[in-house]
Amino acid sequence: MSNSVRTVSKVSAIALSTMMLFSPLSAHADLIIYNGQHKTATIALIDAFKEQSDIKVTTREGSSNELAHQIVEEGKRSPADIIYTEESTPLIMLANKGLLSEIDASTLENIPAEYRDEHGQWVGLLARSRVLAYNPELIKEDELPTSVQDLTESEWKDKFAFVKTSGAFQKQLSAMIKLEGRETAKAWLEGLKENGKVYRHNKAALDAVERGEIPFAMINNYYWDSMAREKGADNLNSRLYFMGTEDLGDLVTVSGAAILKSSKNQDEAQAFMAFATSEAGQQILTDKSAQYPLNSKVDTKGLKPFSELTPPNGTLDLGEYSDGKAAIELLQEVGLL
Ligand SMILES: [Fe+2]
Repeated sequence: MSNSVRTVSKVSAIALSTMMLFSPLSAHADLIIYNGQHKTATIALIDAFKEQSDIKVTTREGSSNELAHQIVEEGKRSPADIIYTEESTPLIMLANKGLLSEIDASTLENIPAEYRDEHGQWVGLLARSRVLAYNPELIKEDELPTSVQDLTESEWKDKFAFVKTSGAFQKQLSAMIKLEGRETAKAWLEGLKENGKVYRHNKAALDAVERGEIPFAMINNYYWDSMAREKGADNLNSRLYFMGTEDLGDLVTVSGAAILKSSKNQDEAQAFMAFATSEAGQQILTDKSAQYPLNSKVDTKGLKPFSELTPPNGTLDLGEYSDGKAAIELLQEVGLL
């Protein structure tokens, strides 16, 4: 057994032994990941995987929804082995269409059952919380809203930023449609349109708060946490705010990955998924992105502890908020898209 093989066996003994049965002498096939997640962390994960397994991985970048629909169009001829998305919605869609393979049980065990598909078709890798980033020079913490529903009131006119194209924002909207009904969600969206200022990206919205251009922004925790890690929290002008009221403002969303049934490299893809969910892989992902690892053994340095987050109804996004289409239609209906 060569050194590299011995190292891989730590990653996934099952995947490796299967691989050896079929191709004892040949080099591993390269993998292609359709990547909708932030590229830096994905590339760091891929580099570490290559060191351990000798399996080369390349990515094709795009928005998670676009990549998932591309896979549907490509069908059996899709060059993708794995898809890695920012939200679980596209994975649920692919699973429902029967396009995903079952992930090895040993890999699934790395991640608690509530953050993965019940039939093992996809697995969560990272979680992210919706938050407000605010500038204490412009607004005090105790003046901030305790529900996103409040943002439709006139007192918040021109006080906040939001990113209508953000997958996590749209997930918040999907959740509101599910929990409060379409009419309430529509009125909320109209209120946001009236009172809020639209930014193109979460980072741009956060930068505007940092500059003092706007008092607060609806973003995901990791944009602020990454900046805090880089520059030191004390050197930032903005602060992070969790509503702490089990409101949709603190929605936690799950980012995950799946193996395509059409992939001809099932064993290598299983080995990658084993690594991505392992302590080593998960540590890389959270170190590089400040998102929450879903393998509970991993250290989250500086982030508000995952166990202290207060998502609505104590639940995560998974199946119950998966209707991304309804959110898009509503955004179009109120003229935001
Ligand atoms: Fe993001």
